[in-house]
Amino acid sequence: MSWTPSTWRSLPIKQSPNYADRERLVEVERELRGYPPLIFAKEVELLKSKIAKVQEGRAFILQGGDCAESFDRLSGAGIRDFYKLFLQMSVIVGYARGMEILKIGRIAGQFAKPRSEEFEEVGGVRIPSFRGDMINGIALDEREHNPERMLKAYHQSSSTLNLLRAFSKGGMADLHLISRYNLDFVTHNPLGQKYQALAKDISQALAFVESCGVDIDKRNEFGEFFVSHEALVLNYEEAMCREDSLGGGIYDCSSHFLWIGERTIDSPAHIEFMRGIKNPKGIKVSPRMSAERLLGLLDTLNPSNQKGEIVLIARMGEEYIASSLPPLLRATKERNVVWVNDPMHGNTIKSNGVKTRYFESILSEIRQFFALCEECGVYAGGLHLEMTQEDVSECIGGSVTIEGLGKNYATQCDPRLNATQSLELAFLVGEGL
Ligand code: PEP
Ligand code: CO
Repeated sequence: MSWTPSTWRSLPIKQSPNYADRERLVEVERELRGYPPLIFAKEVELLKSKIAKVQEGRAFILQGGDCAESFDRLSGAGIRDFYKLFLQMSVIVGYARGMEILKIGRIAGQFAKPRSEEFEEVGGVRIPSFRGDMINGIALDEREHNPERMLKAYHQSSSTLNLLRAFSKGGMADLHLISRYNLDFVTHNPLGQKYQALAKDISQALAFVESCGVDIDKRNEFGEFFVSHEALVLNYEEAMCREDSLGGGIYDCSSHFLWIGERTIDSPAHIEFMRGIKNPKGIKVSPRMSAERLLGLLDTLNPSNQKGEIVLIARMGEEYIASSLPPLLRATKERNVVWVNDPMHGNTIKSNGVKTRYFESILSEIRQFFALCEECGVYAGGLHLEMTQEDVSECIGGSVTIEGLGKNYATQCDPRLNATQSLELAFLVGEGL
C-alpha cells in the first residue's frame, strides 16, 4: 500500500482528540503546513547514524525530560537548567563508560498525553481527562479539546529549540565549563559535591592534555542535543511533514525522534503514519508485547531492516521485566534495533491518591535490564527517563519521603526524578549499578 502523510486517516485510530470545531481544525492544520520546519532532515540523518553507533555498542542513549511539557512553565532558565542537568548526567555516565552519550530530550514538542480513561470525576462531575497542553488545559474549565492549542505547541517548541540550539552551538557545552553545571540547590548536597569532584578530575585531565599541545575544540560533539516526543496527535504530526529537498523522502519535522506509546501501539492509524516518515522511531514495549507481534511491527516500520531506525523502549516494571523481556531480546537479535529501558512507566503507583514511583523500583528495573541484556547477548543501549531540573518531590527516595510527596509536587502528568535523584541515578549507572 502506498504511503503519504495522510494515509493514516482511513484507518481506525485510538487516543485521538475529539475536536468539536472541525472547521477551525482544518484552518489550524493549514496554518501549520505553512510554518517552517522545526528540525532539518540532515540532523535526523545524523541522529540515525548515532543510533547505529549505539547498536554497535560504541555509544549510549540518554533520553529524558518531562512526562508532559507545560505551556505555563516555559522559561529560559528552566531550559538552561534542563540542558545543564542533561550535560551533567552525560559527563557522569560518559566518563565512567568511556563512550559518547547520545542526548535526546523529551522536550520541544512533548505536549500530548494518551490516557487510559477518557473522563475523570471531579467533585461528582464527569469531565474529560487532561490530555496534555497540546489538546486541552489542566484547569477544570479548559478540558474541551481545542485545535488552537497545536499552534501554541508549535511556537513553544520553536522557542525551546531555539535556545537549546544556542546552548549546544554557542559554547555552553564547552568541556572547560563542566564544573559550572551544578544547579544552585545541589551545590551543597552530597551528589552535587560528588559531581564537583568528578568535574575537577576531568578538568585536570583536560588541562594536562592541552598542556601537551592537544587542542580541545570548544565546539564539539559533547554539546549535541536532539529532541523527541510521542507522536500522538496525528493532525499535528501530518501537518509538520516536509519533503526533503536535498535527499528526498518525507520527514516529520516536528522533532528529530518520535515514539509510539503503549496506548497507541494498537492504533492502526498511528502505525500507518509512523511507517512512512524517515525519522528514527521509538516503540514502547510492555509485558503485553509478544515476540511475534514485535517482529510484525518491525516488518511494518522498518521493512528493509535499516540500522539506526528503531529504538525499542522496554517499559516493563520491576516485577515483570525478568519474565517478559528475554524472549523479546532473543527474538529481535537478527534485527537492527537498539534496546533501551524506560524504568519509569512500569513502576507507577498511587500513594494517598497521588501518582509516584520508588527510586528503588526504578533502579531495580534498570539493574535487571542490564543483567538480562547481558545474559541474552544484547547491548543495553540506554535509558529513557522522566526527570526534571527542578527540586520537585514526586518520586520517593533519597531526600523525598512518602510524607514529603506533597511538598513540591509539580508535574502535569507522571512523577519525575528531581535533579538530585537524576544525578544519583547517573552515578549508579556509571558505576555499573
Ligand atoms: C510516556 O512516555 O509518558 C508514556 C505515556 O509512556 P507509555 O506509553 O510507555 O505508557
Ligand atoms: Co509519562
